[in-house]
Formats: sequence, structure tokens, C-alpha cells
Amino acid sequence: MTTFTVRHATDADLDALVGLRRYAEQWLHAEGIDQWTDHARGARTIQTGIATGTSLVVQTAAGGVIASFSLAGPDLDFWTPGDDLDAALYLYKFMIGPQGRGTGLGDALLDWACSRATEHGKRWLRLDCWRTNTRLQAYYARRGFTLVRTVTVPGRDSGALLQRPATMRMSGSSITLLADLPDDARTGRLGPGNDLAIDSGLRGSRLVDASPRQDVRDQL
Ligand SMILES: CC(C)(COP(=O)(O)OP(=O)(O)OC[C@H]1O[C@@H](n2cnc3c(N)ncnc32)[C@H](O)[C@@H]1OP(=O)(O)O)[C@@H](O)C(=O)NCCC(=O)NCCS
Repeated sequence: MTTFTVRHATDADLDALVGLRRYAEQWLHAEGIDQWTDHARGARTIQTGIATGTSLVVQTAAGGVIASFSLAGPDLDFWTPGDDLDAALYLYKFMIGPQGRGTGLGDALLDWACSRATEHGKRWLRLDCWRTNTRLQAYYARRGFTLVRTVTVPGRDSGALLQRPATMRMSGSSITLLADLPDDARTGRLGPGNDLAIDSGLRGSRLVDASPRQDVRDQL
């Protein structure tokens, strides 16, 4: 049994998160995958995620950051009111470092995100991913996600919209995730028209339910 802690990212995690992103970029490049090619944009996105309190890190018992992701509200470039926006929690910037990939941690984190969704009364865990990356879409399909639709938005390479029932669980029991998400976690209003919504008493946690603004949205 391996135990990890999920907590809000802080400024002290910046280098670790940039390192995770850089690792992912290099891996994608080596695989010939045209995703996350803009390093500067990636770093900016990480900084904004930390500043707005949407970024979560996964920490090992030894204190290292092994993975990161964000949970927030819908990206309104992609999702529309017809999608019943409030019915889902939205996953962004899902990254696992070399020590954690292929270990089942990804499955455990997707299950954990689904748990967060159900705990907040949501029906779905949703994400948008790279439109042309069918291999990545297949990864999510194997984990119970279905394609809602693919949308093309100028200036955005993401747009394959996927969702999975929040009640679905796919991982085994060899990984335990403890949440350390205190009430005073920083949650900032993300921008005009974007609402902070969820403030749950759940394990003292607070989630931001807001639409990522232009510079938060990333090439997920
Ligand atoms: C996505 C991710 C978090 C999943 O981690 P995981 O659950 O441990 O899964 P793995 O890393 O073992 O990957 C599983 C499979 O998906 C593939 N895969 C993962 N990310 C991929 C990507 N961005 N593009 C294409 N294939 C990808 C892997 O090559 C692997 O394929 P295989 O089964 O044929 O070997 C991790 O692979 C990652 O950090 N990827 C790079 C960043 C990324 O693309 N994040 C998703 C943004 S929507």
C-alpha cells in the first residue's frame, strides 16, 4: 500500500510543477506528439494555477511532488450551458512525473477526482484534451470516459470534450490518497463573469468552481 497526500500547490511548489511540465513536454516531444509545445505558456499557466488556488499537488511520504492536476469549473470556450455546466467538476493540467507513471497513480487520481465530484453533488468528471491526440483520448476511454463532442476553437488545440460518471471507480486498492486541503486554501475570483462557487465542509476542503480565464486555460 502506498500513500500520497493531495494538497493545494503553493509558491514553494513552482519549481517542482515546472519540472513536471518540462518532463511531460520532453516526453511528448520524444514520442512525436504535438501537444504542450509552448514551454513559456505552460510555466505561466502553472503560476496562475498556484495563485488562484486551483492547482493541486500529489506529495510522496518523503515530501516530493510526484504529480499535479487542477479541479475547477468549466472552460467556457468549450462547454456550453446546454452541457449542464454545474453538473460536473472539471479536471485540468493532469501530469504525473516519471516515478509515478504507469504505477496506477493516474487511475487512483481519476477516482479521487470523481470522489470529489460526487462529494460536491456532481454527476460527471469532465475534461478537455488535445483534439488530434487520439492516443491520449484512448487513455481516457480505457478509464471510462466517453467523448461528448469535439469542438474547434480558434487559438485552442484542445477541444476533445470527455466525461465520465462521477460514481465510476477504476483503480485497485494499492494506492491511498489523503487529502490535506485546509479551509484557508487560497481561492481567488478568477475573472469577470466567473464565479467561485463551491465551499464545502468536506474534510475541511474548499474547491474553486470557476471558469479558467484566458491565461489559466491551458493546452490540456
Ligand atoms: C496522462 C498521465 C497523467 C497518465 O498517467 P498514468 O495513468 O500513469 O498513465 P501512463 O503514463 O502509464 O500512460 C498510459 C498510456 O497513455 C499514454 N499517454 C499518456 N499521456 C499521453 C499523451 N499526452 N499523449 C499520448 N499518449 C499518452 C502512454 O504512452 C501510455 O500508453 P501505453 O499504454 O500504450 O504505453 C501521464 O501519462 C502524463 O503525465 N502524460 C503527459 C501529460 C498529459 O498529456 N496529461 C494529460 C492532459 S489532458
